[in-house]
Amino acid sequence: MTENIVEVRNLTKIYEQGNVLAVDNISFDIKKGEIFALLGPNGAGKTTTISILSTLLNPTKGEAMVNLYNVKVSPDQVRKSIGIVFQEPSLDNEMKGRENLELHAILYRMPKGQRKERINEVLKLVDLEDKAETYVKNYSGGMKRRLEIARGLLHRPRMLFLDEPTLGLDPQTRRKIWDKIKELNNDLEVTILITTHYMDEADELADRICIMDHGKIIALDTSENLKKQISGDIIDIQFEKVEDRMKIPRIISLLKEIPSIKNISLEGTTKNQRELLMNLNLPKGMPNISPEMIKTQINQMISDPNRLLIAFKRFPMASQMFLNAPIDMKKRISNLFTDDLLKELPDEIKQEIVKIKSGNYIEEEKDFEPTISISCESGGSCLPEIIQAINNDGLKIKDVNMHAPKLEDVFLHFVGGDIREESSDRVKSIKKRIQMRQLTR
Ligand SMILES: Nc1ncnc2c1ncn2[C@@H]1O[C@H](COP(=O)(O)OP(=O)(O)OP(=O)(O)O)[C@@H](O)[C@H]1O
Ligand SMILES: [Mg+2]
Repeated sequence: MTENIVEVRNLTKIYEQGNVLAVDNISFDIKKGEIFALLGPNGAGKTTTISILSTLLNPTKGEAMVNLYNVKVSPDQVRKSIGIVFQEPSLDNEMKGRENLELHAILYRMPKGQRKERINEVLKLVDLEDKAETYVKNYSGGMKRRLEIARGLLHRPRMLFLDEPTLGLDPQTRRKIWDKIKELNNDLEVTILITTHYMDEADELADRICIMDHGKIIALDTSENLKKQISGDIIDIQFEKVEDRMKIPRIISLLKEIPSIKNISLEGTTKNQRELLMNLNLPKGMPNISPEMIKTQINQMISDPNRLLIAFKRFPMASQMFLNAPIDMKKRISNLFTDDLLKELPDEIKQEIVKIKSGNYIEEEKDFEPTISISCESGGSCLPEIIQAINNDGLKIKDVNMHAPKLEDVFLHFVGGDIREESSDRVKSIKKRIQMRQLTR
């Protein structure tokens, strides 16, 4: 039987500040030697889970064992057996690569006699030997990430936590980091828990995928088994330039009537944009307000710059809607703002309006070439019907691509396509650094 290196039972974390239920009664195991990917939208609770497993945070309820040690009872033993690469960068830019590792070795109370050898060993592991004497401020993003991985490996941990290790890196650099992760896992038998927003990364690396949303685990299996759960085919249809945007929601409703079609989503748009495009289909839970009423309200608002100004200042969603609105709508709104009023607008909106007024807006006006993604039982048999419906509606197809469900489709199937209003703010990042110091005390 395979041994577990991590066992989590009914783990719950409530942040008292803000009263946030970040992790909601989750249970899972990680097998020794596996690469386990934790996926989920912003704010799903991934970092919180890692923080508990690495003893940086106390759970509110539940148990977690790492390397046979209970995180609450034996945090020191847990810390000695794990390595961690934080989501937020945590290197000292004013120090050289080697110095960063030395500092960590000292903080970890690594015996002096071992330090040099271990540091050389980990620098070699991540191919940074020749950059050891370079200041970290002169490292590229990929080099910094590799140095952080090296630091996580200094005391030869059996379990490594990587919280978004390739965030913001270019595709080649990401691949290099993947190779390192695989090497660590294969050659050194380090078990790895990785979080990422890149589906290709999780698919390439992970033995098992765990999808979290709103603090709960909503799917956990191999990528292959998860893909089987959404049986059938996915057909992506890209349209040639669409002049009348309202044709898209119309064709989507028409296609939805084809019985073998299970789901259709509009790619490359946020939920807010989709609602705007779908002619204000209201979200669930607002049954008493008629769409007509909302449309009237919005129409009134977009004729009154003072009301708009208040909306832009108070509600991020209003700014979002403006920024994502079709160009004719943007032009109409821009014309309402005199130079005096313009000054009072939030910067982002102001810049957009100035651009529109200057006539410098050709790029965005040029092409609206949306792609819809259709999930159906059998692509081959419903494709002719789809194409017929599209032709009848006068829309032109630029590209059709049929494929088996990808991990991305699985992810969207489980968590939906909306963007979460979460960002890792400075306070969170500073807190993490303080916690990091505590960890390495
Ligand atoms: N120190 C904190 N105090 C209060 N709430 C917090 C704190 N840290 C995180 N949260 C909240 O807990 C929830 C889970 O956050 P967490 O950072 O674990 O998410 P995540 O899945 O790692 O997201 P991301 O993909 O954006 O990194 C969010 O609602 C977040 O705002
Ligand atoms: Mg996170």
